[in-house]
Amino acid sequence: MIKMKRAFLCFATALAFACSQPLVKADDGPKTEIEQSMDKMSKAFRALRKQVADAGKNAESLQLVATIKSCAEEAKKHTPELAADKPEADRTQFTADYKKRMDEFIGLIDQLSDAIKANDNAAAQNLTSKLGAMQKTGHKDFKKPDKDEKK
Ligand code: HEM
Repeated sequence: MIKMKRAFLCFATALAFACSQPLVKADDGPKTEIEQSMDKMSKAFRALRKQVADAGKNAESLQLVATIKSCAEEAKKHTPELAADKPEADRTQFTADYKKRMDEFIGLIDQLSDAIKANDNAAAQNLTSKLGAMQKTGHKDFKKPDKDEKK
C-alpha cells in the first residue's frame, strides 16, 4: 500500500512538473511586420512546392502564388531588423538593397504566375526552386542570423 502511495506521489510530481514546462520555447518578443508577412508566405510556399508540378492543381497554385506575391509586397514596405545593427552610414543603402532584392523576388513570382497560366509546369517547378534559392540568399544577406525561423 505504501509502495503504491509512493508511486502515485512520484507520478503526480512528474505530471505537475511536466505541466509547468512551457509547450513552446519562449520567443524573442513580438513578431516584426516582415516576420508576420514571411510566416504567411512560408505557409503558402510550402503548399506550392508540394503541388507545383501537378497541372491539375494549377488553379489552386495560382491562388498560392497570389498570396506569396501580396506577402512579398507587404514585406517590402518594411525595414529588416538587421538594419539597426548596421553602422548608421550604411543603413539607407542596406534597406535600399533589401527592397531591390524583394523586387527581383516579386519579378520571379510574376514569371511563375505566367508559367502556371501557360500550363508550363516544368518551368513553374524551375521557378519555384529559384524562389527557394532566393529565400536562402535573402536571409543570408538581410535577416538577423541569431533569430530562429519560428513557424
Ligand atoms: C519563399 C521565400 C521565402 C520564405 C518562405 C521566407 C520565410 C521566412 C520566415 C519563415 C521567416 C521567419 C519569420 C518569423 O521568425 O516569424 C523569415 C524572415 C525574414 N525574411 Fe524571409 N522568406 C522568404 C524569402 C525572403 C527574401 C527573398 C528576403 C529578402 C529579400 C527575405 C527576408 C527576410 C527577413 C529580412 C526576415 C527577418 C524579419 C525581420 O528582419 O523583421 N525573405 N522569412
